[in-house]
Amino acid sequence: MATPVIIDCDPGIDDAIAILLALASPELDVLAITTVAGNVPLANTTANGLRVLDLARRADVPLAAGATRPLVHVPAGDSSETHGETGLDGSGLPDPSRGPVAEHAIDLIARLALAQPGEIMLAAVGPLTNVALLAALRPEAFAALRGVMVMGGAASGGNMSPYAEFNVWFDPEAAERVLQSGQNVTLVGLDVTRQAILNATDIDALALLPQLGPAVAGMLRFYMRKHVHWYGEEIVYQHDSLAIAQLIDPAILSSRHCHVLVDTGLGPARGATLVDRLGVYGGTPNARWAETVDVERFRSLLLQRLAALAASL
Ligand code: RIB
Ligand code: CA
Repeated sequence: MATPVIIDCDPGIDDAIAILLALASPELDVLAITTVAGNVPLANTTANGLRVLDLARRADVPLAAGATRPLVHVPAGDSSETHGETGLDGSGLPDPSRGPVAEHAIDLIARLALAQPGEIMLAAVGPLTNVALLAALRPEAFAALRGVMVMGGAASGGNMSPYAEFNVWFDPEAAERVLQSGQNVTLVGLDVTRQAILNATDIDALALLPQLGPAVAGMLRFYMRKHVHWYGEEIVYQHDSLAIAQLIDPAILSSRHCHVLVDTGLGPARGATLVDRLGVYGGTPNARWAETVDVERFRSLLLQRLAALAASL
């Protein structure tokens, strides 16, 4: 029985790969995509989500746009340097064939969650603004979700500051609100996603896939140039795909139930996630924190599923 999922995202190159992985996997039934401002502005993340659905020939999957900005403070920047001004630089994808549905992302998620109480997993792989607004505005619908699988956080070094990971950094108040919600929240942070890599050889192989190859390889090669600049290695981190992969194969990650606190101050550590793995601060556990990853299990799943999707188109 496939798990019904909604993917809330900010495409974003790794978001795009994550969406393709979800669409390629029979273990998941992608009910909808919702978009949020993050890597690039909402108009771009929305158009990019629709571009990816066109690429996968999934006109049946609705896409609804959500929040245009974080809950409280607008951050001094985004990730357009990493993903390009469009958010999908290198993909070469044409403008989308359709627009988003008229429904707001929060209303679409609420409607679907209430129609299938206790069944739908919400995969949140961008800033958590939509998720926090859903929890605040539609608590009964938020509680009807089976759980929230979040790509976010960092316990041993961030990517937007020495402490903060981008999705949490972009809207720390939203992340803290979700962590206070009492929902079944799993955090897949940089500590594991930085091990979830594809390399140049993988990308060369992906480039040969029918239908998907040029766009997938093109955006990953664009994404890789920043990784080479920052890390000096020809690799690309598949942050968002790892969160999706955990929904497909729960053996990929191991996690620990613990208390996680977000620094919502305006100081240098804003957006930091304080992961109390050992319970020394005494806070009630409010999330599962991903600690280990079976890298080869993840890599073979991602590469195999992208190839299967390409062959099906
Ligand atoms: O820190 C990685 C996260 O930030 C990923 O979701 C990536 O898409 C960016 O949004
Ligand atoms: Ca993302």
